[in-house]
Amino acid sequence: MKGVVLTGAGISAESGVPVFRGDDGLWEGHRIEDVATPEGFARDAETVHRFYNGRRRRLLEVEPNAAHLALARLAREWAGELVLVTQNIDDLHERAGSPEVVHLHGELLKSRCTACGVVRECRDDLSRASLCEVCDGIDCLRPHVVWFGERPFHLGEIEQALDSADWFVSIGTSGRVYPAAGFVLAAKAGGARTLELNLDPGALASSFDESRSGRAGELVPAWVEEVLAAG
Ligand code: APR
Repeated sequence: MKGVVLTGAGISAESGVPVFRGDDGLWEGHRIEDVATPEGFARDAETVHRFYNGRRRRLLEVEPNAAHLALARLAREWAGELVLVTQNIDDLHERAGSPEVVHLHGELLKSRCTACGVVRECRDDLSRASLCEVCDGIDCLRPHVVWFGERPFHLGEIEQALDSADWFVSIGTSGRVYPAAGFVLAAKAGGARTLELNLDPGALASSFDESRSGRAGELVPAWVEEVLAAG
């Protein structure tokens, strides 16, 4: 048996990490094109650095919740092959104990050098004055995250997993951002049974075989119990 889990911002909401899409369409008061596009970074790198510095500092203060812990338990105790894909740039799955996490949209606690390409752990603030310790370049580090208009990571690997999955579960994602929003149909095309766990039915609820509404901190542990009981 093989299962693919996709998580989005909703799984980290109960840890205190804000979801993206407020009713005003802004990301914590910023326009998406200002803080999450290569063009926005080219225009005003300091604003983009400040935005991610704030998110990085906040991430270092929060903890995984019951939903992250339940997925880590699933990886430990389920006999099948589990592929955990996340759109989140936080490290809460890792801190909860999930052994392998496929980060489609990159990782906030890593920087990338736009000059030499090296990706390194990054727990401190970045700015235009930050130095790349590998190539000695200045004004060349950026958060190792995927912005709108950039190609997400690990797509080939994810496509293969979806194609051969027996089930696909989507947790805490609005289903509005591609390519992740297309995973449910790819999984179905490969013959998988599909389930959505979300606070409210997402944009793609009707594409799933089953959709359950509620908080991830409750729905995910209950679902993991079911999977483990089924063997
Ligand atoms: N439990 C379960 N689901 C929740 C909870 C909760 N406690 N709180 C919120 N949600 C749901 C919301 O109902 C919503 O459907 O989580 C979803 C969050 O949606 P988005 O903010 O759009 O986040 P996500 O789907 O992960 O966004 C995808 O878009 O902004 C880009 O790169 C960014 O990775 C992100 C991608």
